[in-house]
Amino acid sequence: MTESIFTIISNEKIAKNTYKMVLAGAADGCAPGKFVNIKIDGFFLRRPISVCDGNDESLTLVYKAVGKGTEKMSAMGKGEKLNVLAYLGNGYDLTKSGDAPLLIGGGVGVPPLYMCAKKLIAEGKKVTVVLGFNTADEVFYKDEFEALGARVLVATADGSVGVKGFVTNAIEEVENYSYFYTCGPEPMLKAVYNATSTSGEFSFEERMGCGFGACVGCTCKTKYGNKRICKDGPVLVKEEIIW
Ligand SMILES: Cc1cc2nc3c(=O)[nH]c(=O)nc-3n(C[C@H](O)[C@H](O)[C@H](O)COP(=O)(O)OP(=O)(O)OC[C@H]3O[C@@H](n4cnc5c(N)ncnc54)[C@H](O)[C@@H]3O)c2cc1C
Ligand code: FES
Repeated sequence: MTESIFTIISNEKIAKNTYKMVLAGAADGCAPGKFVNIKIDGFFLRRPISVCDGNDESLTLVYKAVGKGTEKMSAMGKGEKLNVLAYLGNGYDLTKSGDAPLLIGGGVGVPPLYMCAKKLIAEGKKVTVVLGFNTADEVFYKDEFEALGARVLVATADGSVGVKGFVTNAIEEVENYSYFYTCGPEPMLKAVYNATSTSGEFSFEERMGCGFGACVGCTCKTKYGNKRICKDGPVLVKEEIIW
């Protein structure tokens, strides 16, 4: 974990209340499923946001403005600086993917799957992505996943785009997959747990205190003992989860 200063290159609205921020800056260890913890002026606790894409020189975040911290982030502009703890958490284990992995994201659970898809496709894997949103104006990154070469299925709760319903309705249209990676709100993760036929990995967006294992504020029970979502997670494997 490194405390780094990143400079905002761009910060644009890409869907309803949803922003894409590209940052310039260096920190070692950027990988799919890891997250950064951002210091925002005027707030004691940092805000955790998943890596959407990145390398040793730049970092892309996609985030939804849901409260005061993320609203303040959304008003920041080119050239402004962000103090970031990078890169935190365990991330997804891409070695387990098999030949045809399925990626399932709901809402702000979509961003961490982008770098995941990018790496898997670069390794020659046949990637299917299922994206879930409430309404058409919330949909983002469909085109970006398709540009990578993934097959993309969208589900919206009101049926305004793609399959009407939840990601689990869209999963029914995927014939075969070797393994899965998912991220989204907890009720969605639980539904995915019940709807999937293979092993897979879940990224949890638990509320956090310190974000690096010191306060035990994010501890949860697993079949393999207590784990801190921020340090031992945010990714847990299907076999260890207790709902
Ligand atoms: C590992 C991890 C990765 C995340 N990645 C992303 C991401 O890529 N993009 C993104 O948009 N968000 C992501 N989140 C959620 C993000 O951290 C919160 O939305 C953000 O901290 C809210 O800050 P705020 O000051 O705007 O809202 P607050 O004023 O703190 O809260 C506003 C509302 O949002 C709810 N909320 C706050 N934090 C969370 C949370 N962690 N989970 C669920 N609800 C929350 C509160 O209950 C409240 O209703 C991630 C969270 C974690 C733990
Ligand atoms: S948030 Fe402090 S230990 Fe996880």
